[in-house]
Amino acid sequence: MIRVQVPATTANMGPGFDCLGMALELHNVVEMIPSSRGVVIEVCGEGAAEIPRDENNLVFQSARRVFMQAGFPVAGLKIRLVNQIPVARGLGSSTAAIVGGIIAANILTGGKLSVRDMITLASSIEGHPDNVAPAILGGIVVSVDDDGEIKYLKIEPPFGLKGVVAIPDFNLVTKISREAIPAQVLFQDAAFNVGRVALLVAALHQGDLSMLGAAMEDRLHQSFRSPLIPGLKKVLAAAKLAGARGVTLSGAGPSVIAFADSNFELIARVMGETFQQNGIKSRVLVLKPSPIGARALEVK
Ligand code: HSE
Repeated sequence: MIRVQVPATTANMGPGFDCLGMALELHNVVEMIPSSRGVVIEVCGEGAAEIPRDENNLVFQSARRVFMQAGFPVAGLKIRLVNQIPVARGLGSSTAAIVGGIIAANILTGGKLSVRDMITLASSIEGHPDNVAPAILGGIVVSVDDDGEIKYLKIEPPFGLKGVVAIPDFNLVTKISREAIPAQVLFQDAAFNVGRVALLVAALHQGDLSMLGAAMEDRLHQSFRSPLIPGLKKVLAAAKLAGARGVTLSGAGPSVIAFADSNFELIARVMGETFQQNGIKSRVLVLKPSPIGARALEVK
């Protein structure tokens, strides 16, 4: 039996659309056992009511890609998922499924894929590397797709930094959230993001949290997605007033993540209350960055 743990991730971190993400201390666990025939999938925790139990399951589909690539015949598979990551909330639940399936299947097939191979395969399934790379490597990762090859560099999370994450009680599928973004943006807005993301990477690298307010501003995606998330602008403002260093949509949303090094309880309370005042129920978690990425907990 193989048991793999994969962290949640927050992608974009404001201006780093599709290229910046951080792993968080919230995990899904994938257990995988080869069997004589059929596919049996059990799901506990987050998404238990909605995650497919058949061959449409993303963990199974991702594992099958590895088995096929390795030429490894699998008659059947038992998969058990123990999920802490809320589904379709912008916290990397689909990435965790893909990465968990790939890593477990890679161990079963003798570990032929390198970390780089797994990042490339997972990104090709997910469509972008910004969640996949930190889910596998941990920490904060800058990643880009260079003609099918993922180039990446890891940054250790700054000391004392935590994410206060307000998770609305509705799903927002990434595909729908991406459709809200226009095909073209103004040159000034692209230039604005280039400056912000460069400042953000330098600030994270140096641990200078005082820069996050300015560095996490975005003009490429967040305002276009705002109509899909009632109260978003007010939640962003409330978190900053309560002492957040920077605050942004987590991934494609609808969750909002505030980065802070103090005032965690207050920031959590005002984010939840502000969503509530806009008719949205939410829960709020205070999460540490996960310095380590996905790993095998058990191989036997
Ligand atoms: N970068 C993606 C987006 C989120 O903003 O659509 C990560 O899946």
